[in-house]
Amino acid sequence: MTATLIDGKAFAAGLRTRIGTAVAALKTQGITPGLAVVLVGEDPASEVYIRSKGRMTREVGMNSFEHRLPADTPQADLLALIDRLNADPAVNGILVQLPLPRHMDEAAVINAIDPAKDVDGFHILNVGRLATGQKAMVPCTPLGCLMLLRDQLGSLSGKNALVIGRSNIVGKPMAQLLLRDSATVTVAHSRTANLRDLCRQADIVVAAVGRARFVQGDWIKPGAVVIDVGINRTDDGLVGDVDFVSASQFAGAITPVPGGVGPMTIACLLANTLTATARANG
Ligand code: GUN
Repeated sequence: MTATLIDGKAFAAGLRTRIGTAVAALKTQGITPGLAVVLVGEDPASEVYIRSKGRMTREVGMNSFEHRLPADTPQADLLALIDRLNADPAVNGILVQLPLPRHMDEAAVINAIDPAKDVDGFHILNVGRLATGQKAMVPCTPLGCLMLLRDQLGSLSGKNALVIGRSNIVGKPMAQLLLRDSATVTVAHSRTANLRDLCRQADIVVAAVGRARFVQGDWIKPGAVVIDVGINRTDDGLVGDVDFVSASQFAGAITPVPGGVGPMTIACLLANTLTATARANG
């Protein structure tokens, strides 16, 4: 079997077009959604993300506000900036780029963001709302994965889903979203025994472990849908957490790296900013 390629780049472009149309409609009412991005320090990977976030925010017609602070900024100064952004009616979404410098308390910073403007869905209130089935801001990468899965499979009800990775950013919220769609969810991680056997039973595999080509092709149940969240820099360039060449021989559908999940993350960030704007304006 040769897998269908899941074109996240095209899906994300379509989503951004729909967001652009909704933004244009809001503008006729005098409302322009605004997204504030805060970067502390000069992590080169974060710089790349922030530049493309800014560009795509402007492309859909939203206002993009960038705040760059030096790596040695006192945490109190960052909290003061977040307070100002919380109070600013032109700002509908706030994203503080992670990781933060080591002297900062990540949880304290995230939880200082107004939960209604928390477009990352990392605030403890949004995490709790998602876990208890209440209306929440949902983290962008797992939301993008869910959209691709629904597009491939329609209903996820009763499917065996294996999430590999237990991070707060991807693995845990991904598991919650799959549960919400009535999948049977297993969360595996670096200490899981018999991962290969678990994988062989999964109709859906979401790989978010951060290890290049970790998931082998012969672990994949024939016909399964494989979503690869990994972005690993290797001598061969960017590769995912799944061994794409061998997995394509078994999977029914699979996301490439790059061009799969990556573009969905920013599109979902814009979707969350639009949602936050709509909620703020009744
Ligand atoms: N760093 C890596 N991924 C993310 C993300 O989705 N949001 C934020 N804020 N920082 C990140």
